[in-house]
Amino acid sequence: MPDLAADWLAPQPLDTAHALPAHCYADPAFHALDREAVFARGWQLVAHAAQVLGVGDHATAQIGAVPLLLVRGDDGRLRALHNVCRHRAGPLAECDGRGAKALVCRYHGWTYALDGALRGAPDMARARDFDPAAIRLPEARVAQWQGLVFAALTATAPAFDEVVAGIDARLPQPLAQLAFDRRVSYEAACNWKVYVDNYLEGYHVPRVHPRLATVLDAAQYATHSARWHSLQSSPLADARPYGAGEALYWFLFPNTMLNVLPGRLQTNRVVPLAADRCRVDFDYYYADSVAAAQRVEDQRFSDEVQLEDIAICEAVQRALASGSYTPGRLNPHAESGVHHFHELLRAAYRAT
Ligand code: FES
Ligand SMILES: [Fe+2]
Repeated sequence: MPDLAADWLAPQPLDTAHALPAHCYADPAFHALDREAVFARGWQLVAHAAQVLGVGDHATAQIGAVPLLLVRGDDGRLRALHNVCRHRAGPLAECDGRGAKALVCRYHGWTYALDGALRGAPDMARARDFDPAAIRLPEARVAQWQGLVFAALTATAPAFDEVVAGIDARLPQPLAQLAFDRRVSYEAACNWKVYVDNYLEGYHVPRVHPRLATVLDAAQYATHSARWHSLQSSPLADARPYGAGEALYWFLFPNTMLNVLPGRLQTNRVVPLAADRCRVDFDYYYADSVAAAQRVEDQRFSDEVQLEDIAICEAVQRALASGSYTPGRLNPHAESGVHHFHELLRAAYRAT
């Protein structure tokens, strides 16, 4: 267990703030702590609403180590059930699907209703005092917003409305109007927080992303922080691949990004795999008016930027693990989003 009485855990004002210590990013003990202190207590993007529109539609997901099954019940309610059978931990569903009438465990066939209540257990008549009515799948919290589905494992996560408070009014169009196009996943040899830190500032754009730098406006690049999210915004040059408008990059603590560009939403979900490894899932959504050729160009450009980010994040991870690094000063103007993230992490660690 890391030393949680250390000085660096105290809140830091932005204008004197330092980055987090290297061991937060490199020590396997923090991988375990992040799972407990951050991921078990935060909201995670787990599906898009189109996957679970009708009764019996279901989608698998995972938060930390906990497998979830999102399923719409006969009552029309969307639930996030633990995908772990109460008999001997078999899986109820191993892939997404539509219109299920019940949830049947693949191991021995115990059958649950769509609300998670056990309905039947084959050949259990000889088990004395066995009461199926007392058995149900545990339920996580679930929220549907702007066509996206989020889940949280515990009551200690904030109210979901607080997490996204103020975002709707700033959106150029309702995100639910955009249709899912495709998913691309990347693995990076860095701690998930290195990836998030990098996302949260435009300070690196001129050096790391020379082409992206010609599309964004460095002089008007702005960062605003709310309680549980931050927003980076920039006017766009009227150039390919986006055209005129605004780039809006929302970060929802702890690991969700919503990148909103004209006619386009790209969600990023950063999944820790080990202290020094993470996976990032990119889901692309478009307005019908965005043509196929534009989508291909958009995805190529995003891929180019992503590979630039992964290369710098992996170099940073190696240096953080080298033993050389002590926390450096943050740029109060350009790294306020990083500071906001670090303050939320410090608070989460203090609360354990
Ligand atoms: S583990 Fe599910 S029926 Fe046995
Ligand atoms: Fe970047």
